[in-house]
Amino acid sequence: MTCMSLNGNFSMGEHTLSIPRELYKLNQERLCKSLNSISELLNSDCYVLLQGGNAISHYSSDTDYDFRQESYFQWTFGVSEPDSYGLLQVSTGKVHLFFSRIPEEHYVWMGIPLELNEYKQRYQADYVYYTDKLAETLELLKPSVLLTLTGVNSDSGLTVKEAHFDGIEKFDVNNKILYNIISECRVIKTEYEKEVMRYATKVSCNAHKSVMSKCKPGMFEYQCEANFLHYVYYVGGCRHVGYNNICCSGLSNAILHYGHATEPNAKKICDGDLCLFDMGASYCGYTADVTVTFPANGKFSDDQRSIYNIVLAANQTVMKSIKPGICWIEMHILANKVMLKGLLDINLLQGDVDEMYDAGLAAVFQPHGLGHLLGLDVHDVGGYLEGCPERPLQPGVKALRMARKLKAGMAITIEPGCYFIKPVLKSALENPNLAKYINQEVLERFKVVGGVRIEDNVFVTENGVENYTPVPRTIEEIENWMSKNEMYK
Ligand code: GLY
Ligand code: MN
Ligand code: MN
Repeated sequence: MTCMSLNGNFSMGEHTLSIPRELYKLNQERLCKSLNSISELLNSDCYVLLQGGNAISHYSSDTDYDFRQESYFQWTFGVSEPDSYGLLQVSTGKVHLFFSRIPEEHYVWMGIPLELNEYKQRYQADYVYYTDKLAETLELLKPSVLLTLTGVNSDSGLTVKEAHFDGIEKFDVNNKILYNIISECRVIKTEYEKEVMRYATKVSCNAHKSVMSKCKPGMFEYQCEANFLHYVYYVGGCRHVGYNNICCSGLSNAILHYGHATEPNAKKICDGDLCLFDMGASYCGYTADVTVTFPANGKFSDDQRSIYNIVLAANQTVMKSIKPGICWIEMHILANKVMLKGLLDINLLQGDVDEMYDAGLAAVFQPHGLGHLLGLDVHDVGGYLEGCPERPLQPGVKALRMARKLKAGMAITIEPGCYFIKPVLKSALENPNLAKYINQEVLERFKVVGGVRIEDNVFVTENGVENYTPVPRTIEEIENWMSKNEMYK
């Protein structure tokens, strides 16, 4: 039994979301429409050629990483098999899929693969073949040009792997056009895609709620991580998460991407710790990216409450201000100024908010950007495409993963944070232009809070936002939810 029925709908059972093939048909139509509007391609018989992801071994062993389809290939063809190719005729939208031929001696390990006609039915493709027929098929199709994909991901700096096969040099290949166009298509989510993203986020939020209600001082961070993973997979059918789980508590909250190999969510959670859990499940490739911050013992201390409410105010102010046409940099600055004003109100800072912002003080407390595009990738593509504003250079805003104006249909995260990061504070205090704004005695008191982040997933709509992140957010909601925890009864 597979998660994909023969009609191609993706589902992990009746209790999970069923995703129709129309999601990919519509993506293909949108891509063809954008390409058809390019004058240099008009009147030519061009094809898009994409190569899917490959199975990758752990170093030299015969154990593979859990396979994840390459995101552009997933977006266009929605094919789960590794080592596949897809060909899309731009003028007609006809789809040709190529699957790896599994040698019979592997059936004992891998099971019997589908027949070609079954792949055709499952993926509702116009034509299907084995990959060893790719060159031969293209020779018969005689494309005037093959559009392949290459480009540099503006978050990772890594280059997209361009489709290649033996014999490609015989064709007229253009790798200059596709990246910008397909990435821009990915930026605007269709209703089909939104449905999947709402599902992944709802499952993640319910998982966070379950984790919160089971959390208690004395547990290890990884046990909360384990509860999240169990929930999203067992209840929601989400086999993967979109990024490494960040499960920190207390002072670890000040490590932005905690949870990596040398900080593996392994600290014991103490009474009085704030937990900062940033975890998002992915379903059929689309990911959530949700952060909750809550007190492990169910009650915020006064100082934790102050910092939490400052970050919540930043989050809510942005939420109310977003609409199409607003520049994302402006939203970042707005959130930063709300945070600085909040820190001023509790006497942690002194001076004028605009002046301290201009001096670069906001980046001391929130070194990361306000949020980013979200989709198949957690830091989704499209932040800095050709023709879009370039990355700003000033402190703080330079961390933004996009500097664009918002458009209806974008999916973004809103994730202001306030952290007490020792090395960053140390260098700020050594810089007289920043130190003059900081009340060191009060700062000392707040360091134990570690950090707070509140991260929501939203769609930009025609006149505002749809926040599709149903978790307790206000102090009251969180303490109420935590009071349901058996532990505190
Ligand atoms: N989880 C990484 C981020 O929030 O961007
Ligand atoms: Mn996150
Ligand atoms: Mn994020």
